Amino acid sequence: MLKRPPDAQPHSRRPRYPGRNPRGFHDKYKELNPERYASDVQKVLASGKTPAGTHRPIMVEEVLRCLRPRAGDVAVDCTLGGGGHARAILDRVQPGGRLIGLDVDPLELPRTEAHLRAAGFGPETFAAHHGNFAGLPQVLATEGLVTADLILADLGVSSMQLDNPDRGFSYKEPGPLDMRMNPSRGESASQLIARASEETLANLLQENADEPHARLIASLLKQQPPGAPGAIATTHAIERLVRNGLTSALPNLAKADVKMSVRRTFQALRIAVNDEFSALDWLLRSLPQCLTPGGRVVMITFHSGEDRRVKKAFQAGYRAGVYAAVADEVIRSTKEETFANRRAASAKLRWAVRASD
Ligand SMILES: C[S@@+](CC[C@H](N)C(=O)[O-])C[C@H]1O[C@@H](n2cnc3c(N)ncnc32)[C@H](O)[C@@H]1O
Repeated sequence: MLKRPPDAQPHSRRPRYPGRNPRGFHDKYKELNPERYASDVQKVLASGKTPAGTHRPIMVEEVLRCLRPRAGDVAVDCTLGGGGHARAILDRVQPGGRLIGLDVDPLELPRTEAHLRAAGFGPETFAAHHGNFAGLPQVLATEGLVTADLILADLGVSSMQLDNPDRGFSYKEPGPLDMRMNPSRGESASQLIARASEETLANLLQENADEPHARLIASLLKQQPPGAPGAIATTHAIERLVRNGLTSALPNLAKADVKMSVRRTFQALRIAVNDEFSALDWLLRSLPQCLTPGGRVVMITFHSGEDRRVKKAFQAGYRAGVYAAVADEVIRSTKEETFANRRAASAKLRWAVRASD
């Protein structure tokens, strides 16, 4: 029998799968323990998926090509997330430069800050702020700045947020129907559905996700089956409600189309719960005053409602002479990246350069 060396760590088993269905998030994903299950993480990456609990930054090369970070630059990452883009920028603004990272999520922000600190970025090079990018001028002011040389916003939610069932962003796992990026503010998706009228829900499904069956889904959300509790409380409950309701009202609708409608319902609710369009509009309005003359901004969007806003604001700024140059065409991820990371498929990147005064 093989003997364990005297200084070896005692072997401890991963908690045994208790045989319930569905399995819990923390039992299910070996990727949540990457040190121990490195080969499992590699298998997940090779299949084009993102290991649970991590976020793979999208279009890093393209972001760097458009932002052109140089030593000494002051950069702002408005959507710090897991810090992937921030790390790539921080490496390039040294020596002498710094990055201010901003995120509205109070749960993920400390983890990312700790991770960047452990990578060697002290307070003189990296500052982490909990807040909404709608208040970017105020964040710059607290750092003693009026403008920055580079600004990045990579919109939407991170894989850590999406994958964590307790946050309620996805129906992959059962969880409370919450969807708040900042769980200590505002109302959850469940409360929003209970409070809003059918018409309001139909409008938000239409405006936030271009949902073709907006009216029907809004009526499903408001007419719960007899005996159901007052509010739709879980991710699985709303997924079932929309899927079954669409299938019985529109029996010829393909399964794939039903799935797309469920996804768009989640997207529309998330945008409404987090007031995402209004935050984006504020950011787009304050960008010119927050950029140093000649400074550069990159925005990565994930659906048409966001991209339309960015495109319009950049083009209007160009016509007004606020921007010296803006992207003519949207930049998409390479075929290789899209293959390796499915979340890159819908990403669109636009850039602009602040005119010199
Ligand atoms: C797609 S992730 C960013 C990923 C990041 N670029 C990386 O490399 O890991 C988007 C992040 O933006 C944050 N966020 C979304 N809207 C925000 C807002 N209005 N203000 C600040 N942060 C926001 C989310 O909490 C999330 O962490």
